[in-house]
Amino acid sequence: MNVDLVSGALGAEVINFDLNYLNNKNFEEINNLLLEHKVIFFRNQSLTLEKFIEIASMFGPVEEHAYVKGIEKYPQITRIIKAANEKNQWGEGWHSDVSYDLTPSKVIMLKSLKIPPIGGDTVFSNMELALETLDEDIKKIIQNKKAIHTSNGSKFFVENYSKMESNGKIGEQYSNEHPIIRTHPETGKKILYVNPTYTKKIVGLPDDESSDLLNYIFKHQERLDLSCRFKWTENAIAILDNRSTQHYAIADFYPGRGLGHERVMDRISIVGDKPF
Ligand code: SIN
Repeated sequence: MNVDLVSGALGAEVINFDLNYLNNKNFEEINNLLLEHKVIFFRNQSLTLEKFIEIASMFGPVEEHAYVKGIEKYPQITRIIKAANEKNQWGEGWHSDVSYDLTPSKVIMLKSLKIPPIGGDTVFSNMELALETLDEDIKKIIQNKKAIHTSNGSKFFVENYSKMESNGKIGEQYSNEHPIIRTHPETGKKILYVNPTYTKKIVGLPDDESSDLLNYIFKHQERLDLSCRFKWTENAIAILDNRSTQHYAIADFYPGRGLGHERVMDRISIVGDKPF
């Protein structure tokens, strides 16, 4: 399979591959590309919803979103809709999906259904590189430490987005602790596993020390040389390793440019392991 690298840090676009032809024989090749590049992209994919679920299921069992209602008949698929007149969008801000879960999602698949003529790109960042490039003294401090990840409750996912609905299962916030340096269960590589959207505190440190240290790490994680940026076209697919990356959906919808246009994505996620 041919790929075009998206940046020096991560990301590869797989050229001329129709995901309808993904099967048990070529799956390993795709999974290896995912492990190597951390996020892989495919353009011009025409997939039924059933096929979308079938492809996702090759990575492991698919799951429903903790807070958000899925689409009719396919609750595993969350349709992320930014209404034409909305300036904000779901997924804005650096995060690793549902890191507050006991077993945060392993892989996320996104499929673009409707894309504004300009704006709404997604940026991805390599958290193995973030760890490698982190100051050695900071690495020593966070070695063997855990952090608390807290969800923002269902309101966070639905309140500012007119088209998003809660699944009504749980409304409130909940937390789980995970190692700040986690190990990738498939490659054994070490990953910097905190993010500014959900990580609230380092276990065992006083509040002020914890927040100074987390703010330092969050600033480091934002470094552009750890990232790649994907410009969506309709019917493109991103498959991202949610263990070793963070992402950020850019809400650059301004009058005379992207504002006034819908952005619609289908999202599906695969059950992950408990970080160790
Ligand atoms: C997300 O953060 O789950 C959505 C990303 C996107 O819409 O680009």
